[in-house]
Amino acid sequence: MSMTFSGQVALVTGAAAGIGRATALAFAAEGLKVVVADLDVAGGEGTVGLIHQAGGEALFVRCNVTQEAEVQQLMAKTISAYGRLDYAFNNAGIEIEKGKLADGSLDEFDAIMGVNVKGVWLCMKYQLPLLLAQGGGAIVNTASVAGLGAAPKMSIYAASKHAVIGLTKSAAIEYAKKKIRVNAVCPAVIDTDMFRRAYEADPRKAEFAAAMHPVGRIGKVEEIASAVLYLCSDAAAFTTGHALAVDGGATAI
Ligand SMILES: NC(=O)c1ccc[n+]([C@@H]2O[C@H](COP(=O)([O-])OP(=O)(O)OC[C@H]3O[C@@H](n4cnc5c(N)ncnc54)[C@H](O)[C@@H]3O)[C@@H](O)[C@H]2O)c1
Repeated sequence: MSMTFSGQVALVTGAAAGIGRATALAFAAEGLKVVVADLDVAGGEGTVGLIHQAGGEALFVRCNVTQEAEVQQLMAKTISAYGRLDYAFNNAGIEIEKGKLADGSLDEFDAIMGVNVKGVWLCMKYQLPLLLAQGGGAIVNTASVAGLGAAPKMSIYAASKHAVIGLTKSAAIEYAKKKIRVNAVCPAVIDTDMFRRAYEADPRKAEFAAAMHPVGRIGKVEEIASAVLYLCSDAAAFTTGHALAVDGGATAI
C-alpha cells in the first residue's frame, strides 16, 4: 500500500513542537505545502526552518486557536499563500491539571476546554467551508486514549478529548456525502515536551508510563505522524468518523 495524496496543501496546528512538528515534517516530506500554526513563534519558525532545510515548502502563521478572529485569519492566510486547503490536522492541545476532579479549578477547566475543544471546533468551523468549496478534503483531530476511557487525575483533559471525538464523529456524518472525511487520532503516552513536563521530575513515573503500554515503551512522535498521514491519504478513502488509537496496545487491555 502506498500513501498517495490528491491534495497539495496541509495545515497543522500546534506545529511548533512534538506531534504537530513531526506531522508537519512528514507532510512536507510527501511533497505537500504546509501551513505551520502555533502560539509559539520561535518553535513554529523552527519547524518551518527544518522543512526548508529538507527542501520542502512551508509557512508559519502565529495563531491562538482559542481566538475566533485568529483562526479566521489563519485560514485566510492559508488561502492567500497557497490558494487552497486539502488536509487539516487540528492538534494544538494542553494538559495542566494534576489533581482529582474535586481539586480542579475553574481556570483549569476553562483553559483546557478552551484550547482542546473550542480550538478544534473553531478550526473545523472555518476549515469545512474551504473544503466544501473545493469539493473535498480530510481533517484529523488529535484526541487521546483519554478520549476513549478514564484518565484519573486528568478528568478535565479526558472530558476535553471525549469532546474532540464527539465533534469528529458528528462532523464526519454531516459532511460524509461531500467527500470530506473527518477522523481523530488517539495517542497513548508519546515522548514529547508535554510528556517530559509530566514525568521528568520522577524517573519511576517514566518507567510506569512505559509499562502502561503492552509493547513495553512509550510512543514516538513519528508514529503518530504516520497515522495522521494515513488518515489523510487516499489509502483511507473509506475511513471517516473513526477514532484511531495509536497506543502500543494500551486500550486493548
Ligand atoms: N504527548 C502525549 O503523550 C500525548 C498523548 C495523547 C494526546 N496528546 C495530544 O497531542 C497533541 C499535541 O501534544 P504534544 O504532546 O505534541 O504537546 P506539545 O506541548 O509538545 O505541543 C503542543 C503545541 O500546541 C501549541 N499550543 C498550545 N496552546 C495553543 C493555542 N491556544 N493555540 C495554538 N497552539 C497552541 C503549543 O505551543 C505546542 O507547540 C495535544 O492535543 C495533546 O493533548 C499528547
